[in-house]
Amino acid sequence: MSGDTIVVGPLEKGDSERIVEIVRGLPEWFTPGAAKEIREALKRMPGFAVRVGGVVRGFLLLDERECCVEIAWLAVERGFRGRGLGTLLLGAAEAYACSRGKPVLTVKTYGGMDYEPYLETLAFYRGRGFRLYEVIEEYKPFGGQPAAVLVKSLRCTGHPS
Ligand SMILES: CC(C)(COP(=O)(O)OP(=O)(O)OC[C@H]1O[C@@H](n2cnc3c(N)ncnc32)[C@H](O)[C@@H]1OP(=O)(O)O)[C@@H](O)C(=O)NCCC(=O)NCCS
Repeated sequence: MSGDTIVVGPLEKGDSERIVEIVRGLPEWFTPGAAKEIREALKRMPGFAVRVGGVVRGFLLLDERECCVEIAWLAVERGFRGRGLGTLLLGAAEAYACSRGKPVLTVKTYGGMDYEPYLETLAFYRGRGFRLYEVIEEYKPFGGQPAAVLVKSLRCTGHPS
């Protein structure tokens, strides 16, 4: 990856197949049904991609709520994890939330505290300032599995557009 230009920007038409490929390559985190849900979400949610040398290697989709902006989907391609791309995407989400005058980011992630892949995910969010709001023990959209609700309060500068 060294030498390749890294750019974070809005999702573009034509990114969806690459995004589905990334998600399919992370079966420890995403069920096979996630690809369909993401295709649907791509039609209505704003989002960002991180491109390395022009190729999408990670993405995030955002769901704007009355109170805040929720990270609905986030993933970085397996071979590119742990190199700062997820942190760059979070930065784009924070700037988006601030631009909408909503200085709070939320995310729901798997909340069973016994599954290593999602313990890494929790460490990622916690390391970037998110704090646990609550664990919903049986969260229907996760097939009745627990969901950890995480929240980050943002320090926005400037005025929302
Ligand atoms: C979570 C995810 C988006 C983070 O993106 P990333 O590019 O790997 O993250 P960064 O490189 O910016 O930050 C890495 C941090 O993740 C955490 N992490 C823990 N184990 C890790 C691992 N094996 N590989 C990568 N990151 C790991 C650490 O907190 C690490 O922080 P540190 O560098 O201070 O130690 C990405 O790893 C991913 O796609 N994971 C699988 C899918 C997922 O969990 N999506 C979110 C669902 S809510």
